[in-house]
Amino acid sequence: MAIKGILKMGNPVLTERSKEVDLSNSDYIERIIEDMTDTMKHYNGAGLAAPQIGYPLRIMMFGFDFNPRYPNEAPIPITILINPQMKIINDTLAEDWEGCLSVPGIRGKVPRYLGIEYTGVDENGNSITRKVENFHARVFQHEYDHLEGILFPARVKDFKNFGFEDELRNVIALKYRAGTKS
Ligand code: NI
Repeated sequence: MAIKGILKMGNPVLTERSKEVDLSNSDYIERIIEDMTDTMKHYNGAGLAAPQIGYPLRIMMFGFDFNPRYPNEAPIPITILINPQMKIINDTLAEDWEGCLSVPGIRGKVPRYLGIEYTGVDENGNSITRKVENFHARVFQHEYDHLEGILFPARVKDFKNFGFEDELRNVIALKYRAGTKS
């Protein structure tokens, strides 16, 4: 078990495309997934991608029952995906607030596709295919971007909707008000 430091925006690992995972090296994958799990829990992340803790590999995880960083969002099953892929099902773009452990203290409104189908291999080597919408689809797309070397600020369209959390609190007050626990 190891809680890793999170790489922050500016670190070159975060802006390179991560490599496909060789599924035959299961001990190595297991260790990375353990580190990701411990780290994501420790920092209350809704998701985490392997490059964020320094492994430029195509592994992501996301999910929560309740997340204090996103107090109004419905639960998402804890999901680990190796070599994930995605298909757009509903190409309507919706904007909503995002944050990122690699961009601490900052939020921005980011457009994402409303509906996608994702596939990948889980931690036990089983294939996963899911059609998802809304916040679940958003979280996947955010993590997928990490594997492509894209951080959410690069997708912000209007910089009125981008900035430090403490300054934005009035702008996003409605999102924070109900159910905020932290
Ligand atoms: Ni992120």
